[in-house]
Amino acid sequence: MADRPHVLLTGGAGFIGSHTCLALLVAGFRVTILDNFENAQADVPARLEQIAGCPIPVERADIRDASAVAGIVARGGFDAVVHFAARKSVPDSVADPLGYYETNCTGLLNILAAMRAAGVRRIVFSSSAAIYGMPEVMPITEDTPAAPLNPYAETKVFGENVLLAMGRADPAMQIGILRYFNPVGAHPSGLIGEDPSQPPGNLVPVIGRVATGQLEQLTVFGSDWPTPDGTGIRDYIHVEDLARGHVLSLQALMGDGGSHLVNLGTGKGYSVLEVLRTYAQVSGRDIPYRIVDRRPGDAAVSYAATERARAVLGFEARHDLRAMCASNWAYLKGRMAAV
Ligand code: NAD
Ligand code: WQD
Repeated sequence: MADRPHVLLTGGAGFIGSHTCLALLVAGFRVTILDNFENAQADVPARLEQIAGCPIPVERADIRDASAVAGIVARGGFDAVVHFAARKSVPDSVADPLGYYETNCTGLLNILAAMRAAGVRRIVFSSSAAIYGMPEVMPITEDTPAAPLNPYAETKVFGENVLLAMGRADPAMQIGILRYFNPVGAHPSGLIGEDPSQPPGNLVPVIGRVATGQLEQLTVFGSDWPTPDGTGIRDYIHVEDLARGHVLSLQALMGDGGSHLVNLGTGKGYSVLEVLRTYAQVSGRDIPYRIVDRRPGDAAVSYAATERARAVLGFEARHDLRAMCASNWAYLKGRMAAV
């Protein structure tokens, strides 16, 4: 056990972190979760242990608390950190920019300072397609310039910049920057999935709440976009694929030691109505919707160029939209039965 590489997963009880936790365990890593559970259900670690069949240590702490973070990293004997912990709602970030900078920027700096003090030099960072803003040319390559349109996206650009600068200052740093597109789906066990403790704003979690009857209808933000059916197009990627991307990222850092910055998407785009119809099919539920005006700050179309992830990490997404919607629905049904 002790010879397995030990990874600290900040935000490891959240949506992407919990799936990555399982993928890392399967790949032979040891993991410790650090989370303050502000956007995670308290029983996620127990569910993870049920699936994994082994204990998963959890440090309940806030990344804004520099001394708590320093203590955890100093004691942990970590080989790497995967830093998921952040606030992630674009509209919330517009309403509370200071709160977003505190968690996403100060929190990251606390982690990095703790790593430096403990001599941990490997980190994988959750960045986002949000940093690209509204690029006109598709697909979006990693060389598309950053053009953040809101405080959330600004905090991710900040995070990338700090990491890139640290990498330049200390060539021994090994840094993986992963720019996720639109994560969807759930673990095949049906025991973990996207289950935020705060009201969702992303498309599939909202559709899920309509399918379960918690919301009356989906509000579609605009049907006059320059797309075939007039609704927005995004690159939805299965969270299981994303989780595998993190394993590949860590393995690459531990293998050749080089740093990388890659998009994680499928390279394919689907419209809001395509997602809605697919979800209705796999769930057998009616998903009523009404069309309203465009949401401020939205882009018409966004999908990833995937060549660099393939070349650098050997990463290719395996799951299609149907699998994403079906696994999300299986998870929600299981949760409804459990409560
Ligand atoms: P999530 O909210 O499900 O997970 C984040 C976790 O971090 C939660 O468990 C939360 O409790 C924890 N957390 C938040 N603030 C904390 C703090 N101050 N101290 C300790 N823990 C804290 O979100 P997710 O979808 O799993 O996103 C993970 C990462 O990926 C985030 O950095 C997010 O910005 C990024 N990302 C997400 C998406 C997406 O659409 N889900 C897309 C691109 C990038
Ligand atoms: C997808 C499509 C909406 C909700 C956001 C963040 C990004 C990243 C992923 C963190 C768009 C439409 C949505 C609804 C709708 N997260 N929609 N009705 O905006 O591409 O990206 O999440 O990093 O940073 O910006 O995702 O799921 O909100 O929207 O019509 O109730 O669904 O207009 O076309 P988005 P989304």
